Amino acid sequence: MKTEVLSWDLENELALKKGAQIIRDGGLVGIPTETVYGLGACAYNAGACLEIFKAKGRPADNPLIVHILNPEDAEKIAITSKLYYRLAERFMPGPLTIIMPKRDIIPNEVTAGLDSVAVRCPVHKVARRIIELSGVPIAAPSANKSGMPSPTTAQHVYNDMNGEIPLIIDAGACEVGVESTVIKITEDEIILLRPGAITVEMLREICPRVSVSSAVLQELRAGEVALSPGMKYKHYSPKASLYLVSDSEDFIALARDRAQREKCAIMCYDEETDALDGLMLLPVGRREDIKEQTRRLFDLLRQADELGAQTIYAHLPTMQDEALALYNRMIRASAHKIIGGTNG
Ligand code: TXA
Ligand code: MG
Repeated sequence: MKTEVLSWDLENELALKKGAQIIRDGGLVGIPTETVYGLGACAYNAGACLEIFKAKGRPADNPLIVHILNPEDAEKIAITSKLYYRLAERFMPGPLTIIMPKRDIIPNEVTAGLDSVAVRCPVHKVARRIIELSGVPIAAPSANKSGMPSPTTAQHVYNDMNGEIPLIIDAGACEVGVESTVIKITEDEIILLRPGAITVEMLREICPRVSVSSAVLQELRAGEVALSPGMKYKHYSPKASLYLVSDSEDFIALARDRAQREKCAIMCYDEETDALDGLMLLPVGRREDIKEQTRRLFDLLRQADELGAQTIYAHLPTMQDEALALYNRMIRASAHKIIGGTNG
């Protein structure tokens, strides 16, 4: 199959109409969202959704997120609640995914046999227009090969999916850079399954009872069951081995030392580039700029592989507030290889 990459254009909606037609016909399309690019198919079409698993090489027990245009569209696919609407009013459209009991219209293939469904209402105008033109909810995981860093540009999608899907819609780099916050809700409680741009602190403003699933911060213990199946898989991993360096270490000295012995890429703060001159540098943004570091993360991990790095050294982020998403993706990409202690 030839994979076409078309630029989005809201005035001349050629690419979007083509994408919507493919989705209605049961095909797959690479779609930009504010978080990462998704691999979309009609959420009512079991066969099309099975093709998503094939194209990604995704384990069959890892369910998909269903994307809708407006919060009230969740009624058709899920059993909603007051808390859902309170959260929706504040955070939708936006980078938040809410897991609720599913209705029968959503095939078991989408939810990997679970009796719940993950609902997300994206804010990206191209994602929204595709959902609107398709006229159906769109099931879409991140558009990477399973285990690879999620794609934040159309080029990343092309690198992973060339030959597997007919169309990728290119709308430039994603604004957030990591996947949506995933939560499970009961009547009066929120459980955070995957941190993202909507933080624990923001959620607490709507509902004070927010707990963080243990898999967000650490490895699952042997035999422990993941609340979110995706959390048990190795994720976001570049081919190079990623090491996270705690603030207790001298990053500059360590990077210089390792560079003499290994072909390593150094993910340094912008302020450190002069001190590390001559090394294979992948600047992550300014030290205080967590948003920029988050936006660049997956692209830099892919770049390290393209440069042929055997190892990557990066700063270990804190777990505070908006840095939690960055921390979670980085410890998983590194398979918990931390040099020095954890940063409080
Ligand atoms: O930002 C995003 O969420 C992107 C864009 C494309 O919207 N999508 C995305 O999808 O990251 P994916 O499939 O890569 O991640 C979905 C996560 C997985 O960890 C999956 O296990 C979890 O959500 N999930 C989906 N449905 C679930 C359910 N019913 N119960 C528990 N976890 C669920
Ligand atoms: Mg994914």
